[in-house]
Amino acid sequence: MGVFGRGSLSLAASFIVLFGVGAVRAENGKPAAVSPQAVQAKTAFCKTCHGQSGQGFLGVEAIPRLAGQQPEYIAYELTALKEHRRIDPFMSGVAGGLSPEMIQALSTQFKDFNPPPASPGPQALVAEGKKIYEEGVPSAEVPPCSACHGEDAKGAGEFPRLAGQLQEYMVRELEEWDAIRGLDAKNPDNAAIMSPITHKLTKDQKNAVAAYLSNLK
Ligand code: HEC
Ligand code: HEC
Repeated sequence: MGVFGRGSLSLAASFIVLFGVGAVRAENGKPAAVSPQAVQAKTAFCKTCHGQSGQGFLGVEAIPRLAGQQPEYIAYELTALKEHRRIDPFMSGVAGGLSPEMIQALSTQFKDFNPPPASPGPQALVAEGKKIYEEGVPSAEVPPCSACHGEDAKGAGEFPRLAGQLQEYMVRELEEWDAIRGLDAKNPDNAAIMSPITHKLTKDQKNAVAAYLSNLK
């Protein structure tokens, strides 16, 4: 066990309750309604970019996998995009038009899909990436990724699943983090948890850990 053995688990636990996207409730205490037809039509639109089974797509820009993603994380990100705490040329417009009720409904649409990884990175990097994922980089004070994202990288609540995510997408996010997430200084969010980690990892380490994760089923 390295420097970040047990301590990092309680580190993860201490973040879990930070910034919830509270469930949407109508005044009578029941979830506010959106019609199943509207949810279906909107989901079909999402699939034009994210893939028919939410597997993601590598085109001019890498479009992330949503399949098997934690619903709480999807709702949290759609809300962050809608509120301009996260920005993206494609998604900011898409999320801006979604009501809180629709965001809650969409968040569960992809959880039962289990397609194979859409863009697995090079096998040659997998062993190094696995080591970083499980042990962190103690010399650079990078905690094990598994402490927050889970041993199987399937995530939990607002901690995203990374298993099977596109390598190119993850590297881009880790490289550009502070320019695209956590952009409202008055309303800090979960982006602050990952930010220091993105500074401490080298580009080669990002490539390696993303290669490992992008091969996981
Ligand atoms: C025009 C293409 C396009 C459409 C349509 C689209 N997306 Fe996206 N989506 C993207 C791209 C590109 C990103 C990556 C943004 C980034 O790099 O930060 C993304 C990111 C996301 C993320 C963040 C994923 C993560 O792992 O952080 C979620 C959640 C998401 N989209 C959900 C949806 C939903 C729900 C819909 C339908 C209402 C939708 N998207 C429609 C292109 C699209
Ligand atoms: C202390 C907890 C914690 C640790 C440790 C951690 N993460 Fe994260 N990570 C998060 C949280 C929380 C988010 C979501 C942040 C947000 O939504 O703005 C995240 C998001 C990400 C994302 C973006 C996922 C997506 O779908 O867009 C990537 C990639 C990522 N982490 C990779 C890593 C890697 C690689 C490591 C290890 C080197 C790591 N994380 C360690 C908490 C952590």
